[in-house]
Amino acid sequence: MAIQYLALATMIVLYSLMFIGGYISAAGLGLTCPEWPLCPNGVMPSEEYLIEWIHRLVAATTGVLVIATMIASIINKNADLKIKITSSLAAVFVVVQITLGALVIDLKLHAVLVAIHLGIGILLFSMVLLTTLFAFRISRTAIAPRI
Ligand code: HEM
Repeated sequence: MAIQYLALATMIVLYSLMFIGGYISAAGLGLTCPEWPLCPNGVMPSEEYLIEWIHRLVAATTGVLVIATMIASIINKNADLKIKITSSLAAVFVVVQITLGALVIDLKLHAVLVAIHLGIGILLFSMVLLTTLFAFRISRTAIAPRI
C-alpha cells in the first residue's frame, strides 16, 4: 500500500479508537472487562464485554498500522527525516499507550492514569496526523517532474 494511504488508514482507525475510548469513559463502562489482555471469556466477543473488546481489538489493529507506517517511512527512499521522526514517535507512543491501557485496568481506572491515557492518545494522534501530512507531501514530490 502506498505510504500516504497507509498513514491515512492509520489515522482513521486511531480516531475511531479514541472515539470509542471516550464513549467507554463517559458511559462508565471502563471496568466491564476486568482482565487484561483478554476478557474472562477469552478471544471471542460477548455481549457483556463488547465495547471493551472492540476497544482492545481496534487498539491492537492501531498498533500494527502505526508500526507498519513507521517501517514504510523508514524504508521509503523519498522519505525525509521529519516523517521518520514523527512515525517513530507514534510507534513509541502506541506501545506506551497499549501498556498504559493494561495499567488503567489493573489499577481500577485510577484517575491520574486515565488522564495520562487521554494525554498520550492526543500525542499519538498528533504524530499520526503529521506523518499523514508528510506522507502526502512525499507522494506529491515523487510524481512532480524534475527540472
Ligand atoms: C492505541 C491504543 C489506545 C488508544 C489511542 C486509546 C485511547 C483511549 C481514549 C482516548 C480513551 C478515553 C479517555 C477519556 O475520555 O478520558 C480511552 C479510554 C479507555 N481505554 Fe484506551 N486506548 C488505547 C488502548 C487501550 C488498551 C490496550 C486498553 C486496555 C486493555 C485500554 C483501556 C481503556 C479503558 C478501560 C478506558 C476507559 C477509562 C475510563 O473508564 O475512564 N485502552 N482510551
